[in-house]
Amino acid sequence: MRKIGIIGAGHVGLVTGACFAKLGNKVICCDNDREKIEKIKNLIIPFYEPGLEEIVKEGIEKGLLSFTDSIYEVVENSEIIFIAVGTPPTEEGKADLSYVENVTIEIAKALTKIKEKNPQKELYKLIVEKSTVPVFTSEWVRKTLELLTPTGIEFDIAANPEFLREGSAINDFFHPDRIIIGVESERGKKIFEEIYEPINCPKIFTDIKSAELIKHASNSFLALKISYINAIANICEKVGADVEVVAEGMGLDRRIGKEFLKAGIGYGGSCLPKDVSAFIHICEEIGYSFNLLKEVQKINQYQRQLIIKKAKDLLWNLKGKIIGIFGLSFKPNTDDIREAPSIEVINLLLKEKAILKCYDPKAIENMKKIYPDIFYSEDPYLVAKDCNLLVFLTDWECFKELDFKKIKELMQTPYIIDGRNFLNYKFLKSLGFVYRGIGRKID
Ligand code: NAD
Ligand code: UGA
Repeated sequence: MRKIGIIGAGHVGLVTGACFAKLGNKVICCDNDREKIEKIKNLIIPFYEPGLEEIVKEGIEKGLLSFTDSIYEVVENSEIIFIAVGTPPTEEGKADLSYVENVTIEIAKALTKIKEKNPQKELYKLIVEKSTVPVFTSEWVRKTLELLTPTGIEFDIAANPEFLREGSAINDFFHPDRIIIGVESERGKKIFEEIYEPINCPKIFTDIKSAELIKHASNSFLALKISYINAIANICEKVGADVEVVAEGMGLDRRIGKEFLKAGIGYGGSCLPKDVSAFIHICEEIGYSFNLLKEVQKINQYQRQLIIKKAKDLLWNLKGKIIGIFGLSFKPNTDDIREAPSIEVINLLLKEKAILKCYDPKAIENMKKIYPDIFYSEDPYLVAKDCNLLVFLTDWECFKELDFKKIKELMQTPYIIDGRNFLNYKFLKSLGFVYRGIGRKID
C-alpha cells in the first residue's frame, strides 16, 4: 500500500484516485473547487462516468479515499503526487500550463513548510505529471521546485501520461493497452513498479521527454486517423463508394487496424482538438512546422460544415425550418460537451436561422449553459414532433432503440442526417425516411 496524492479531481484525477484506492492504496484527492470537493464527499459525482460513483463510494467507506481542498494536506500525506489539473488551450491554441505552474508553486510551498516543521526528517516525494503537457514541461516543474524549496528535500519528477477515454475510464484504468512511465531515478521507478504491479499490460519506462511526447504523438495520431477516414468519406461521396466498406477493408490490415476509422462529423472532446493544436504549437516553437497536423485540423473543421451543406441539400433554405438535434455530448456515455461537434453545428444552424430542438440522454444541462435559449426536452419524441429534419450528432446506443415509425409520424418531413453513420439506413428507408450519412452509398 502506497500513499498517493492526486491534485485535480476532474475526469482524470478522480478516476485515477478512485482506481488507486480500489487497488488498496491510501489516496487523498484535492481540488481547489471547494464546491466540487463537498459534492464528491457526499457522493455527488460532478460528471457522468459509468461505474465511478460505485468505486468512489467503496473507497470512502473503506477509509482509503479522502478529499480535500488543501494541496498542503496532499503533500504532507502522500509520497507520490499526481498532478492531474487541466491544460486547456489558450486563445492561440497552445497548452495553458498556468494550472500546472500554480500547483507546482503550491507543492513547493508545502514542501518548504513541511521541511521547516521537521528539518531532521528525510523528505522525499515523487511528483508526477498526469495531465497532458507539452515536451519540456517537466523541466519547468523541476526548475520551479528547485528554485522555491530549501535544500534537503529530495524529489523526483516523472511523466505518466494518461490514455483513458471518457465513458470507459474505469475499464481503461484497469485494462490499458500500455502504461508509459517517464522516470529517471531507480527510486522513482521502483514506486511505479509497485503501484502498477496489479495491472497486467506492457509497462514502458522511458526518459521523461519521450513520455511527454508519446502522449501528444498518440492523441495526434488518433486525430489523424479520424481525419484520414473523413477525407476518404468525402472522396467516397464524390465517386459513389461507401466509406464503411472502405474502412472495413482497410482496417482488416493489422498494420492499419480497424479502430478510429469511423467516419463522421469529426473528432471533438476536451482532448484531441486541444492536444493536436498544442502539439503543432510546441513543434513550431522548436522549429518544426507540422503541416500534416494542420491539414488534420482543416479536415475536422470541414466535417462540421458538411452537416449544414447536407441539411441545405435536403431542405433548401434552413431559415424557419425545424431541426431536431439528437446527441449533444462529444461522444456517447458522457455528459461532456467540451469541444463537442454539436456546439459548432448548432452555431452554424442558428446562423442559418433554423429553429432547433435538442435531445441528449445526459448532456442537456451542460448545453443549456452555452445555448440557454433553444428548446430542449428529455423526451425524444417531443423533440422529433413537427421537425423537418433530424440530425444525429452523437452515436448513443439508445438512439438505435427509438421508435422510428412513431418518429416519422410526428415529423413534418421525414429527413434524417446521420452524422455518425450508426443508424440502420435500410430500416429507416423502409419506413419512408430520406437518409443521409457521411460518405455512405445508400442503395
Ligand atoms: P478536468 O477539468 O475534468 O479536471 C481538472 C481539475 O483540476 C478541475 O476539477 C479543476 O478544478 C482542478 N484544478 C485546477 N487547478 C487546480 C489547483 N490549483 N489545485 C487543485 N485543483 C485544481 O480535466 P480532465 O479532463 O481531468 O483533464 C486533466 C488533464 O488530463 C488534462 O491535461 C487532459 O488533457 C488530460 N487527460 C484527460 C483525459 C480525459 O479523458 N478527460 C484523458 C487523458 C488525459
Ligand atoms: C481520447 C483518446 O482516445 C484517449 O486515449 C485519451 O486518453 C484522451 O483522448 C485524452 O487524452 O484525453 P476521448 O477524448 O475520451 O479520448 O474520446 P475518443 O474516444 O478518443 O473520441 C474522441 C472524438 O473522436 C469523439 O468526438 C469521437 O466521436 C470521435 N471519433 C472517434 C470519431 O469521429 N471516429 C472514430 O473512429 C473514433
